[in-house]
Amino acid sequence: MPRPVVLVSDPLPDDALDLLRAACEVRRTDGGDRTRLLAAVADASVLVVRSGTRVDREVFAHAPLLKGVVRAGVGLDNVDTAAADGAGVSVANTPAANAVSVAELTVGLAVALARHIPEAAQHVRRGEWNRSAFKGGELAGRTLGVLGLGRIGRQVVRRLAAFDMTVLAHDPYVADDDCRRAGAEPVTLGELLARSDLLTVHLPRTAETEGLIGERELALAKPGLHLVNTARGGIVDEDALARALKDGRVAAAALDVFAVEPPRDSPLLGLPNVLPTPHLGAGTAEAQHRAGHEAARIALRMLESRGLLEA
Ligand code: MLT
Repeated sequence: MPRPVVLVSDPLPDDALDLLRAACEVRRTDGGDRTRLLAAVADASVLVVRSGTRVDREVFAHAPLLKGVVRAGVGLDNVDTAAADGAGVSVANTPAANAVSVAELTVGLAVALARHIPEAAQHVRRGEWNRSAFKGGELAGRTLGVLGLGRIGRQVVRRLAAFDMTVLAHDPYVADDDCRRAGAEPVTLGELLARSDLLTVHLPRTAETEGLIGERELALAKPGLHLVNTARGGIVDEDALARALKDGRVAAAALDVFAVEPPRDSPLLGLPNVLPTPHLGAGTAEAQHRAGHEAARIALRMLESRGLLEA
């Protein structure tokens, strides 16, 4: 039986590739190069991607042998799951692999906002030393609002509760008891906005969550709010957030994600009270290793379940 082809179209750690190579023919392509991707996928039984490959109807139309798509990471917003369904292709992600890394980045950004760390670093680099220009605030005693209580939201609750914050959460898919067990008081979205000093977003980007935090919601926010988004751009409306940051309703925002990445035209980039980072949530050695390995193991299971691997 010929070895099945696994096409890897985004970076994957070498040891994860070796795991695949032990049982399959591994081919590489650049998922950002559409022409090459569409040609390469023709022989593939499984396609492994991160976030750099758009897997849509056109890809499925060029992939007659494709049985599965594995997203090494959490967000499936670059994979058209309905089109995959229609093409009889299974889709899987690695939902646990990044949670700790994203939660740790969230905590880092929250502290960076509270203590003006990036501006202070620039200040010292410029040769200045005005310590009183950077008076911050403690997180202890303040109220944290967690929007989305999935794997990442829960890791954030655990970590920021240890900073002695009062923790609220809103997630319509989590029962109140479960929310309390996770360490957060369940509240409505309106209450979350009105009571939080620090709001952090941990939702997937879907038709339901796109624009969830817009002009109306930001008008409900507690004045002086700090907002952190390490989930997905587009959940917080960028124009509305830019207006709220300009008029001071939102004091500061740390954004690891943007509606369009890279965010060349975002109204947020020029604002001094925005701390932007380039989608670094999963950017740790540990998260990359876990996601790569889990993705490789899932790809092998997909092939095995379709009878495509030698026993
Ligand atoms: C994820 O969805 O896994 C993270 O946002 C990181 C990524 O997109 O690669």
